[in-house]
Amino acid sequence: MRVLHFSDIHISLGLARIPMRDWPGKRLAGGINFLRGRGRRFERALYKLDRLAAFSDSGEVDLVVCSGDFTAMGTRAEFATARAAIQPFVVSPAEFVCVAGNHDLYTRAVVRQRRFETTFEGLLDSDLPDSRVEGPWPIVRLLGDDIAVVALNSAKPNPVPWRSSGRIPNRQLEATRAILARPEVQKRFVFIVTHYAPCLADGRPDTPAHGLENVGEFLEVCAGIERGAILCGHVHHTFRVRLPGIGPEVFCAGSATMHELEGFWLYDVDSDGMSARRGLWSGHGYELEPAAPGSRSDEGKRE
Ligand SMILES: [Fe+2]
Ligand SMILES: [Fe+2]
Repeated sequence: MRVLHFSDIHISLGLARIPMRDWPGKRLAGGINFLRGRGRRFERALYKLDRLAAFSDSGEVDLVVCSGDFTAMGTRAEFATARAAIQPFVVSPAEFVCVAGNHDLYTRAVVRQRRFETTFEGLLDSDLPDSRVEGPWPIVRLLGDDIAVVALNSAKPNPVPWRSSGRIPNRQLEATRAILARPEVQKRFVFIVTHYAPCLADGRPDTPAHGLENVGEFLEVCAGIERGAILCGHVHHTFRVRLPGIGPEVFCAGSATMHELEGFWLYDVDSDGMSARRGLWSGHGYELEPAAPGSRSDEGKRE
């Protein structure tokens, strides 16, 4: 089975398109900062997402995973635009699994109004609904005989402008531990999906202000997975890294749409394991890097 994994598309509409009702209580300084600075690097996000859908359609993809940060500030207009933009993935034959990023749960009001859950209603279903402990989370999907997906919410509002850290609530981690012990999950290759990356590209921890606050507990739950991978975003660089003592390799999709950093991953899973190829932006569309020696995720284990 083939899996397309992208992340951090950051659909933004510019300051002029944000209704005044969305501003009160918002991290005004942080929002302006994003839209005037880094946000400019996402100006062609909608066009690029359209091209990514075309790439996916042409590649016989069975599953599409987006690891969050659909929006810049979680406004209603951004969510509506992002939902419309991912529709080609939704109507394709491939399954679609997604998690929220911190920009999608930007303020407490956005969370209270359940904008993420409302926007992606119908796409957050689980094949193990009894395992849900917080809203739709964790989402479990069992695809064919080969793949299990366990999608967790690691994002939360950060009222302090200079913080963008995440946390996977203990209840979700405990639920994940139980899910991983189930026979129908154990026999499959397991993709753990979280917005927050458990490390940076060199394997070192992210900073306390930007990273996953309870990364140790998360990795402890994942450590024993023999056939699997951790899929994430949040760090806007596409990388893969194997952490000492942790069974599944970490794959960060980076950002599919950020100017000059565009990337994603394509995974092929069979009964023997998984191989991964990095995707990149050519200027007009997306393509794959040539397969490199050691691209199989299970090869790294023997090093
Ligand atoms: Fe992001
Ligand atoms: Fe993020």
